[in-house]
Amino acid sequence: MENTLITGTSGFIGWHLFHELEKRQFIPVGTYCNHDGDHRFHKLDLTKLDSINALLDSLAPNAIIHLAAASKPAFCETNKEIAYKINVKGSEALATWANAHQIPFVFASTDQIYDGENAPYGEHSVVLPINEYGRQKFEAETVIKTVCPSATLLRFALIYGKSTPYAESFLQWLERDLISNKTLQLFSDEYRTPLDVETLCNAIIESLNYPAETFQLAGNDKLSRSEIGFLVAGALGILNPNIEVIKQSEVPLQSPRPKDLAMCNEKAKRYRLMQPLSFSEMIEKILLD
Ligand SMILES: NC(=O)c1ccc[n+]([C@@H]2O[C@H](COP(=O)([O-])OP(=O)(O)OC[C@H]3O[C@@H](n4cnc5c(N)ncnc54)[C@H](OP(=O)(O)O)[C@@H]3O)[C@@H](O)[C@H]2O)c1
Repeated sequence: MENTLITGTSGFIGWHLFHELEKRQFIPVGTYCNHDGDHRFHKLDLTKLDSINALLDSLAPNAIIHLAAASKPAFCETNKEIAYKINVKGSEALATWANAHQIPFVFASTDQIYDGENAPYGEHSVVLPINEYGRQKFEAETVIKTVCPSATLLRFALIYGKSTPYAESFLQWLERDLISNKTLQLFSDEYRTPLDVETLCNAIIESLNYPAETFQLAGNDKLSRSEIGFLVAGALGILNPNIEVIKQSEVPLQSPRPKDLAMCNEKAKRYRLMQPLSFSEMIEKILLD
């Protein structure tokens, strides 16, 4: 599809998605806010609500995949109003434009809309965010559904993959700290279902075929943060990693962190959005590449 607009292409997932779409001859259009990593990207600041429609009118996209966000829970907790403009009001403006022009709209939500006490979660599980980031993302989902009923909602799990010019995933800091033998404190009581960014991007593209649906895009393996650390160490060939296994209650947290966000990916697999490999297979592929 020509002229597919991806917001947030200077970010980790957006960068990967932009290049995947280019490989497929989609002719994507990207946006940045502070990091103009590619001269082809267009400036979009979602806090400047008045400027959004003018940019969309000039780009005239045939589809919008909305990834741009205030994506760090600690930032959202301490900068609630700015984050709200970006995550909720900005998303509403984009979805309203998409609806008025009857084009597909895909929104990146998160596993953090769940409370972490009732895993595994399915698309119809009760949503109960415990931090500001999760609350804003769920409010955005709700507003988007109101102003653009055909929107596709995607709830991403923890995503990892190769770094990009301006962004990286947890894999990069784990790798750095493990290789430098820095002591890593990792939770044994915080669980995620991590998914690699390559599988994620393919699933996002496939999801354009499913208006008005909600999908959870998650990996197959439920892993604690400390299990993730030991698996990455193993893939790097580090036999005695300097990992200190701790519990969430042992350290002060910058923002409330849901404990168990394991999401079920059966619906995404049934609709053939993805068939993820195991976490071990994927990190070996990424780290050895
Ligand atoms: N990565 C994950 O594990 C994960 C998990 C669940 C959900 N998600 C969701 O997936 C999406 C992409 O995540 P990501 O990890 O790629 O995020 P990221 O690396 O933090 O990138 C965020 C993007 O949003 C842009 N942005 C920030 N403030 C903006 C503003 N005021 N106006 C317009 N654009 C702005 C950034 O632009 P600049 O850098 O140029 O400022 C960047 O391109 C987000 O919606 C996130 O909530 C991610």
